[in-house]
Amino acid sequence: MDASTTSSASTATGEDALMAFAMRTINDIAAGYTGVMVSLGSKLGLYKAMAAAGPLSAREIAQRASCAERYVREWLNSQVACGYVGYHAVSGTYELSPAQAQVLADEDSPFYIPNAWNVPASMWFDEPKALHAFRTGEGVAWDEHDARMSCGVAAFYRNGYRASLVQEWLPALDGVVQQLQSGIDVADVGCGHGHSTLLMAKAFPASRFHGFDTHTSSILEARKLAQQAGVGERVRFELARATDYPDRQYGLICYFDVLHDLGDPVAAARHAAHTLAPGGTVLLVEPFANDRVEDNQGTVGQLYYSASTMICCAHAISEGGHLVLGAQAGPARLQEVFRKAGFTHFRCAAQTPFNLIFEVRR
Ligand SMILES: C[S@@+](CC[C@H](N)C(=O)[O-])C[C@H]1O[C@@H](n2cnc3c(N)ncnc32)[C@H](O)[C@@H]1O
Repeated sequence: MDASTTSSASTATGEDALMAFAMRTINDIAAGYTGVMVSLGSKLGLYKAMAAAGPLSAREIAQRASCAERYVREWLNSQVACGYVGYHAVSGTYELSPAQAQVLADEDSPFYIPNAWNVPASMWFDEPKALHAFRTGEGVAWDEHDARMSCGVAAFYRNGYRASLVQEWLPALDGVVQQLQSGIDVADVGCGHGHSTLLMAKAFPASRFHGFDTHTSSILEARKLAQQAGVGERVRFELARATDYPDRQYGLICYFDVLHDLGDPVAAARHAAHTLAPGGTVLLVEPFANDRVEDNQGTVGQLYYSASTMICCAHAISEGGHLVLGAQAGPARLQEVFRKAGFTHFRCAAQTPFNLIFEVRR
């Protein structure tokens, strides 16, 4: 092979790589547009109008959702183009398959996704705060974000908790289900809207559940949801930090996707060590991650490192940033937090594509 052949071959390869990467970035922009369409479809009731309805014309869908037909037809075509809605070309009708309906229309499904688009919406809205934070090194606290942030995060994580918490994660902890059935006090630290707390409370009526969070509107929302769930005095939501909630000698202390957000996770783990009953367990749920950056490539790493930049690291820095773990901490760094706080037992009890579930004991 002479030099000119080599050079043209490498140019072709370079052009292929350029085109492939450019297309990849265009795909990501298209996904961003799709997010806006999903939000519209959800808020306007368009997906619900189509769920389990069979093939419908644009006019019928518009009528069912009380929307203007021309907008609905264009929206439907955008949904067909990205594979979110089926299209029957002969009849010119549109249809949601059962799988599409479960993800886009059924709010009780563990796969329901539209609310999760609130997170990138708030990330865009909060970009000026992130620019300032990058330039100054200052933090951005959880309550400084647009309200769509906490709602979107709660909705995103709720899916996983509904699918796995009671059915798989708690049974994966040695002896914990039996303790919950007999009746123990449970702390849900950084409970947010309290979806995890309420799922556990409904499943274990003999136990008492205490949700703690520093975010006032999340605690108010959690109290509202508790009232709706009719769980009574067994479930309390209080404003408290991960380092100062009341000592009730808990049989179970839970951190659901929160430890890495804290400005001082070791201090929080020490507080858990003091407030845990003898024989008690810490349930640590964290975003799925491996220990090394090079092993966190792909969709899950893309989601979590990005959210971590805008939300998790920014909040931990706002709390003093003693140890800023980020949302891709990985098992080794998490174990080290608990070792420093005096815990000797640390076991990965379960995992999903999005979460790692650890059992931690003194
Ligand atoms: C990613 S959200 C997770 C919320 C909830 N556990 C869930 O899974 O939906 C992190 C939560 O930690 C709370 N938080 C942050 N710093 C805290 C602290 N120092 N003490 C208690 N809660 C804190 C935030 O207000 C927020 O509700």
